[in-house]
Parts: sequence; structure tokens; C-alpha cells
Amino acid sequence: MRTFAFIVLTAVMPSHYSIKAQTFHPEIPRSWNDREVETFELPLAKAGRSPRYMTSKDYYTLKERVLYRSYPVYSPGREPAGYREWLKQREPEIIFDASKLRTKADWIETGKVVFQSHINYSPAPEGPPELDTTVPVLADGTVVPFRPGHRYFIRKKGLIEVGVNACADCHTRIMPDGSFLVGAQGVVARPFGSAAQKQVRESTPAAFARRLESDWTFFGVPWVQSKEEFLNQMTRDQVVAQLAANHPGVFARQGTSRSHPVHIPLLVGIRDRRYLDATGLVRHRSIGDLMRYAVINMGLDLSAHFGGFQPSSKTTPFHGEEGTRYSDEQLYAMALYLYSLEPPPNPNARDALALKGEKIFQQQGCQACHTPPLYTNNKLTPAVGFVVPDDLRKTDSILDVCVGTDPTLAMRSRRGTGFYKVPSLRGLWYRNAFGHGGQAETLEEWLDPARLNEGYVPKGFHIGPGPIKGHEFGLTLSPADKRALIAFLKTL
Ligand code: HEC
Ligand code: HEC
Repeated sequence: MRTFAFIVLTAVMPSHYSIKAQTFHPEIPRSWNDREVETFELPLAKAGRSPRYMTSKDYYTLKERVLYRSYPVYSPGREPAGYREWLKQREPEIIFDASKLRTKADWIETGKVVFQSHINYSPAPEGPPELDTTVPVLADGTVVPFRPGHRYFIRKKGLIEVGVNACADCHTRIMPDGSFLVGAQGVVARPFGSAAQKQVRESTPAAFARRLESDWTFFGVPWVQSKEEFLNQMTRDQVVAQLAANHPGVFARQGTSRSHPVHIPLLVGIRDRRYLDATGLVRHRSIGDLMRYAVINMGLDLSAHFGGFQPSSKTTPFHGEEGTRYSDEQLYAMALYLYSLEPPPNPNARDALALKGEKIFQQQGCQACHTPPLYTNNKLTPAVGFVVPDDLRKTDSILDVCVGTDPTLAMRSRRGTGFYKVPSLRGLWYRNAFGHGGQAETLEEWLDPARLNEGYVPKGFHIGPGPIKGHEFGLTLSPADKRALIAFLKTL
């Protein structure tokens, strides 16, 4: 199609003109450039424990990831007769080929493919697929593709595989009507359901020990707690309680923790954010930084050295096949795609109530931090107990006001910089799980002073009862003013 359109255009226009209009010659940054890698992250709160990553030289010896065409998975009973046989006849088809990309739109469209591609594979079950039953089945009988195990891959003729670990798995919101918003806050619940809990309860001592070892790889922070303590202290009941606490929109990303996981942010609007992650870990100075963000989060952070501690000696543990990496072209296309994301149409009207709410927002001083038009000043605020190092004031945007939220993630984790960034309030209407840990399920709860009480039971992520501390702005407003403020917030 594209080639055809291109030929037609060149036939009717002077050739140099049409080529200029059509083609896009991106300057693709080298994602793993030692000098940039040196400075793309804030230092960790614990001096001397900031990660040292693999060198550029070693990184580029990893093999480029080949992305293959995938096919829909049908819910049980809806699979067309002969589908698996048909799949077995498919030839593997490579779906990312930078040499075929011409226009910026081509790059963006292909970036979407990278974002949605699973990168770990295992043989598909012979029988009915193992599906996340919390997500809807679409009208044609297929299941929403952006979940682990929800696509079939043909990488070798005759072998049907399923995939996991696509960016889109966590960053797609499945709406109640079965539609989905890519780049919105995902849900991620299935791996923690009752089956997983039962498995932990019934696992052999050796299997249970392996599970704790893997948790140590993902979450261990030896400068806070020794490995022995971590392994000895966790009981099966505690692990089950952590799994049971899992909450839609919240995820224990590696480097956070199972007891203090983090909410999944919107990627819509990412191009305007200066810091990535709730703790502002990654400085977003350029498209290259977003590419580096994807590299570390797909596993390279697990092989980094945090002082003397290396969580895993594998090069790409758990994310993608061992020894592989995204190519810089793939990362660049994906970053362009993320920059192109636009919010869905907002159904909430800027009516009289919302306009009243806007005034309250101003009167309460919210805009000092949540400054329009982005509804963030893009600054970092220190967590409780963090003393801001002077040199960071020269390089970074810091507002020296502590909002008093739970400091654990910022102070005691591998993503802990000592800061929480001021988040953007745009798109609150299609999100849940507020505050960095997603403890407040709704805006009503976030603005409810009862959440500060000792015995409070949060409606968002929580393991036991306990207050949702800090950020006491707007808590004492009258019910009518609060309604107006929330109506306004939902228009952003
Ligand atoms: C298993 C779930 C999961 C997967 C897979 C995943 N993410 Fe995320 N993502 C998260 C969570 C959770 C956070 C919040 C981390 C934090 O705040 O510390 C996040 C944060 C981000 C952010 C920072 C946004 C901000 O405003 O702070 C970006 C950018 C991002 N992810 C992009 C990606 C890309 C690109 C991929 C694929 C290469 C990916 N993610 C894969 C769960 C996931
Ligand atoms: C001093 C700066 C500051 C002021 C003033 C402020 N906020 Fe915030 N706000 C923050 C920070 C920092 C966070 C993130 C805290 C965390 O997650 O630990 C936040 C988080 C939020 C969140 C949760 C967003 C999310 O992504 O989960 C909402 C909603 C919010 N603020 C609304 C308001 C409103 C409404 C006001 C005024 C009544 C206000 N804020 C005043 C700094 C501020």
C-alpha cells in the first residue's frame, strides 16, 4: 500500500520535493552511550549504592531482538475449527524491519508494534489457553491481546508459542465495555490470584525457598535488610498476604517491593514529563533517556551493581531471551510512539460545578505544584527524612517542600532517590489507585481526612490497616467544595 502511494506521488510531483515530504531521516541516538548512562539517573538516596550498569561495549555485544508476527488467542469454545493446524502452517514473519520505514507515521506505527510485542516465549498449552479471566472477551471471540499469554507466536514453523512481558501488558487499560486504551494505567491482577496463593501455600520447602530467592533478586535491598534476614523472616502467610493484596493499577515492579509497590502511571503525556518513575529516578532530558528507561526496565537494572550487590548475573534476566536487547531502532520507534499518544476524549464537562472547583483548586494553592497546563511543575519533592544534597540543587528541579507521604519507596528501595516527583493531574478521570503506592482508590478517598487515622483501611493497595499518610492538601474542604474540586480534577 505504502509503496503504491509513494509511486503515485512521485509521478505527479518533482521528485526531490515529494521525497522530502515523504521520508523521515531520524537521528537515532545510541541508547547505551556510556556518557549518557552515567547521568540519566538521579543518585540513590543511599550514597554509594547507585546502580552501575553494563558498559556500552558489553551492551552492544548482546543480540538484537527479533520481533515476530503474532496471532490472536480465542477464549475457550470460540476458537475456529482447525485454527491451531492453520497456525502450524504459518511461516515465521519478522515484523520489525527499520529499512522498510519511510515516514514518521511508519515509525510511530511500528513503535506501537514494539510496545505491544511480548519478548519471552514458551510453548502454548495444547488444550484451552490459560487466560486472565478478569478481562473481557471481544465480540469475535478473541481475548484482549495485551496480557501475558494472550497472543500466539510463530517463531519457528510448526511451533505455537505464547508470550509474556510486553510493555502493553501493564500499560493498557481494559475498559468495562471491552475497549482498551493503550498507554493508560493497566490492571495486572491474574498472576497473584487465588491459584498463585494456593501454589505458595502448597509449594515444597525447596520451591518456596526458590520463590524467596527470586523475590530477593527483584526487590532485595541489602543496605536496608540483609539477605539472611529477608529469607528468614518471610513466612508463607506473609507471601500469601502480599499476593492477596495485589491491586488493579498497582504493580511490584522490580526495584520496588511487594509490601510497597507502585501505581502504574499513564504513558499518555509522557513527552512533557521531566522525571520518570514516582521517585523521579530517570531524568527525561531527551528521547534517548526514554529509550534508556525501556532498556533498564526490561531487565538491565537487575544485572547492575548497586555498590557490591548485583541482583542477577544474567545479562537479561527474566525479560526477553537471555543475551538479547532491543535494537536502537526498535527503542526509538517505541519512544516516538509513546510521544505520539493522545488522551481519549474526556466525557466530563467543564460545567458550573467544575468551574467552581477550578477556583477552589487555585484558592487551595494546588497549582503551586500542580501547575497548569501540565498540572505539574515537573519538580521533585524530598520524602520524609531526606536531606537534599547540595549538588543536586544545581542539576535538578527541586521544590524543598516535603508532602509527608510514606517514605519507604523513596528511602528504602532500589528505585529510592529520596524524592517523590510532583505527578501530573491530567487524565485522573481514567485512572485509579492514587498516591505513589496506589493506596487511595478514588479521588474522594484521596481527599478524605479519615485516611489519616491509625486504624484506617485503605480501599486501594494495602496489606493491613493503616493510614494513608501525608499530602494533606484540600482535606478540610466542605463536602460541597470537595465535590466541585473533584468535578474539576476529572476534567483535566
Ligand atoms: C510488569 C508491568 C510493566 C511492564 C511490562 C512495563 N511497565 Fe512501565 N511501568 C510499570 C510500573 C509499575 C511503573 C511505575 C514505576 C515507578 O513509578 O517506579 C512503570 C513506569 C513506566 C514509565 C514511567 C512513567 C512516568 O511518568 O513515571 C515509563 C516511561 C514506562 N513505564 C514505559 C514502559 C515501557 C516502554 C515498557 C516496555 C519496554 C514498560 N514500561 C513495561 C509497569 C510496567
Ligand atoms: C507542595 C506541592 C503540592 C501541593 C501544594 C499539592 N500537591 Fe498534590 N501532589 C504532590 C506530590 C509530591 C504528589 C505525589 C505524592 C506521592 O505520591 O507520594 C501529589 C499527588 C497528588 C495526587 C495523586 C496523583 C496520582 O498520580 O496519584 C492528587 C490527585 C493531587 N496531588 C491533587 C492535589 C490537589 C487537589 C491539591 C490542592 C488541594 C494538591 N494536590 C496540592 C504535590 C503537591
